Amino acid sequence: MCGIVGILGRGPVAAQVVDALKRLEYRGYDSAGVATLDGGRLDRRRAEGKLRNLEEKLAVTPLAGASGIGHTRWATHGRPNETNAHPHATARIAVVHNGIIENFRELKAELVADGAYFESETDTEVVAQLVSRELERGRSPAEAVATVLPRLKGAFALAFLFTGEDDLMIGARHGAPLAVGYGQGEMYLGSDALALAPFTDSITYLDDGDWAVLTRAGATIHDHGGGVVTRPRQQIAQSAFIADKGNHRHFMAKEIHEQPEVVGRTIAHYVDLATGRVKLPTALPFDFAKLRRLVISSCGTAYYAGLVAKYWFERLARLAVDIDVASEFRYREMPLDEGELALFISQSGETADTLASLRYAKGEKQHILSIVNVPTSTIARESDVVMPTLAGPEIGVASTKAFTCQLAVLLALAIAAGRARGTLSEAEEQRLVASLVAVPGAMADSLSSEREIEHLARELAKARDVLYLGRGPAFPLALEGALKLKEISYIHAEGYAAGELKHGPIALIDEAMPVIVLAPHDAVFDKTVSNVQEVAARGGKIILIGEERAVEEAGVATFAAIGMPALDPVIAPIVYAVPVQLLAYHTAVVMGKDVDQPRNLAKSVTVE
Ligand code: F6R
Repeated sequence: MCGIVGILGRGPVAAQVVDALKRLEYRGYDSAGVATLDGGRLDRRRAEGKLRNLEEKLAVTPLAGASGIGHTRWATHGRPNETNAHPHATARIAVVHNGIIENFRELKAELVADGAYFESETDTEVVAQLVSRELERGRSPAEAVATVLPRLKGAFALAFLFTGEDDLMIGARHGAPLAVGYGQGEMYLGSDALALAPFTDSITYLDDGDWAVLTRAGATIHDHGGGVVTRPRQQIAQSAFIADKGNHRHFMAKEIHEQPEVVGRTIAHYVDLATGRVKLPTALPFDFAKLRRLVISSCGTAYYAGLVAKYWFERLARLAVDIDVASEFRYREMPLDEGELALFISQSGETADTLASLRYAKGEKQHILSIVNVPTSTIARESDVVMPTLAGPEIGVASTKAFTCQLAVLLALAIAAGRARGTLSEAEEQRLVASLVAVPGAMADSLSSEREIEHLARELAKARDVLYLGRGPAFPLALEGALKLKEISYIHAEGYAAGELKHGPIALIDEAMPVIVLAPHDAVFDKTVSNVQEVAARGGKIILIGEERAVEEAGVATFAAIGMPALDPVIAPIVYAVPVQLLAYHTAVVMGKDVDQPRNLAKSVTVE
């Protein structure tokens, strides 16, 4: 899941390419590179690590040329050093690539047998060599690319420049996103529209299998069979591109604090305040009442949102839910009865495993419903119906506001399902909607505990391991809390169902291990308290997140408590996400970690 960009400009483009790459750095930051064509001659600069290293290099040895391609890398094949950095080049072409060429070993063996010499360990260099070989055989650039594409297996997006061809750039898409941008006498390619935002808002998203030949006069798009096709051109609203830190030190902090607003905006999209009932923004092409089972699949934080929703769909709508992480679901060969519903949750809408699961479910004739934050994404486009989260661009690699917006949409959907299935009366629906509408206010209240959390983070930062416990819908939130902490602070953390503790993990408890207990005042509160007593009895360092009255009621010796507002338990998972995120954030800040761009991660995971 790297980011790629290409520009056919009217003046020197290297700075513009770097500017676009900055907007794609969320996709990976192991290395970066730019290649330009100047008077038909290809030249490139590449650097290990973040984009600023490349910028420093370009400041010393600039690149001229009005045609350029650029890349920001999340390493898959080969270490993240300069040799493996893109663009990869031969004497004839330069190429940037997002994705994986799965059959690169056999292609490489064929090329080596043919006398090719490889300088990098990457799969991408195979593409460079294959296309060059076709050019040497006398094919035109477009013919060479068209000949090579069918030989590549895997998921990829590619952008090529060709020696001697100042007015030519070719892009190809197969399983990884690629957009064509139209300017005034300029043309662009980018992994997403955000990358191209400073230059154009006029965008065509390529379909899978498409490849496009760009000159400054426009683009000719071909489908996988080679025929010329027309794909719709869209104006992307400028508001979709606003992405700055405001007054915050990190995007993650800004995104945590934005939640009352964006979750409120999302909820307003799904409820009718006049009637106090759920009003879905789009008609459903299926009837909840007729469903026997709901299948949910997604990855990471989005998967935990799905796990919380399992409790809601089962309780409120009496609808059985089968949920799995997408990397497993896609290969499970799960039998699915025709006409049931499959739900996919994704912030980016581009996650490779989630997309593959969606395609599997489609093949099994399921109705496909997706909850996505990027409405132009592949998952959105391949779904029968899309329920958007209105979180706005999420830049911090650790998902925060997208998660709580996903939860808000999922709760609205579970309520709609309950109504359709006759398991919720009108009065019950109105009570639930009133609770949902109260979420933004409760989130704002819970943000006020930030000072205490900051203080607590100094303690947490000393820990080697941290345990998160919860029951019911607070259990997936415990998993999310552990994920958040480990991915940005690198402290080992695990989430457990509180009742599972005695089946093994209790052996880990000692005075040095913080145990964060998520204890909303719900039907299983007493059970959670019993589990906390078990931890206290073994000297565990308990940090209890719960309502003040509940903390008092619990009567356990805690190391610290984070007070929460009194809430309808149904909305607790959405509101309790706030202290969980703040704890992870402040711990990572205390430890001096790179909060927005944690090591080894990327925002959009377009490889499996
Ligand atoms: C963790 C995180 C990831 C993503 C996961 C799915 O903070 O952000 O676990 O949730 O990679 O990504 P999307 O939602 O884009 O499909």
